[in-house]
Amino acid sequence: MRKFFKWVGIIAVTLVALLLIGYAVVWISTDSRINKQYSVQVKHMDLQADSAMVAYGARLFNTQGCAECHGAQGEGRVFINDPKVAVIGGSNITTGKGGLPAGFDDNAWLMALRHGLTPKGKPLMIMPSYDYAKLATYELASIVAYCKTLPAVDHEVPAPQVGPLGRVLTFFHKLPLVPAEETDHQYQPPAIVKKEVSPAYGKYLSITCTGCHQPDFKGGPNHQPGRPQVANITSKGHLGQWTTDQFITTLRTGKTPEGKQLNNEDMPWKMTAQYTDDELKALYLYLRSL
Ligand code: HEC
Ligand code: HEC
Repeated sequence: MRKFFKWVGIIAVTLVALLLIGYAVVWISTDSRINKQYSVQVKHMDLQADSAMVAYGARLFNTQGCAECHGAQGEGRVFINDPKVAVIGGSNITTGKGGLPAGFDDNAWLMALRHGLTPKGKPLMIMPSYDYAKLATYELASIVAYCKTLPAVDHEVPAPQVGPLGRVLTFFHKLPLVPAEETDHQYQPPAIVKKEVSPAYGKYLSITCTGCHQPDFKGGPNHQPGRPQVANITSKGHLGQWTTDQFITTLRTGKTPEGKQLNNEDMPWKMTAQYTDDELKALYLYLRSL
């Protein structure tokens, strides 16, 4: 009997040791990814903007998801708040207290949006630069121009913290903690895009959906543990049965033809609600072609 307990003890100690070693590997690997020094060539672009661009930028601020993560006034907000996984807030991107650091110039805006990096070349957590790297120059300049007009708000957002589960998920590439890794830093975005009801324009707009629905739009496991599976939005999913009007209603109200009410925290339909009819029609055409 004593021998039996001795062996159980040895096995338990070995398992704990293996787990500790495993976690140490996860920690060291994720830490080097979080703190990696990048050197990218920021493509200079003219960020001059007129009042029409500022107004257009205000719309893009909502339709491109900035408001979802940075708050309606750019004041910053914590949008992942599960200490086991991570506590992550979009920064205060106004010039108020807790806002953008002094000297945050056009180069810094481009580093953040096109590359997912701080001006010093360190990764920004979760900030989806893989999408914004592909935005047409005119649209990016409009967004930046609008952001610069945001009134100063004093609001401190806690610095990102990654919990043990968040590290494990990052290790297995299940959480896009370091978007700089998935960003095409050499991408040459178009200067301007043609806005028309066409699959081509739908394809351009659909970049915003790929972070969650995956580049093939077939969805899959949610980045946030415990949240619903991300839907397949190709013609192979429910969307294959929907009319254009049903698609538009779903993306405006969050209510699907099957009677499901989508939660804005999972599927940001309050963002897509602000798309124009033509934008939604173009998206429909493109997604249906898949
Ligand atoms: C999915 C959430 C998310 C979306 C969408 C998003 N951001 Fe961010 N953004 C973040 C997070 C989180 C940070 C802070 C990361 C960090 O501190 O490591 C950040 C950082 C930034 C920074 C750097 C701020 C600083 O103090 O260094 C800027 C600028 C910025 N975002 C602008 C934007 C704009 C403009 C948009 C829309 C085009 C946008 N973001 C969309 C999550 C998001
Ligand atoms: C922040 C992540 C996220 C983004 C960004 C996102 N989605 Fe979703 N979407 C989801 C999740 C998660 C679901 C499933 C929600 C559920 O089942 O409750 C979903 C569901 C849907 C559905 C319902 C599908 C069905 O079969 O009922 C449609 C349609 C949809 N998304 C379209 C889009 C489009 C178009 C875009 C881009 C403009 C987009 N989504 C961007 C996460 C996202």
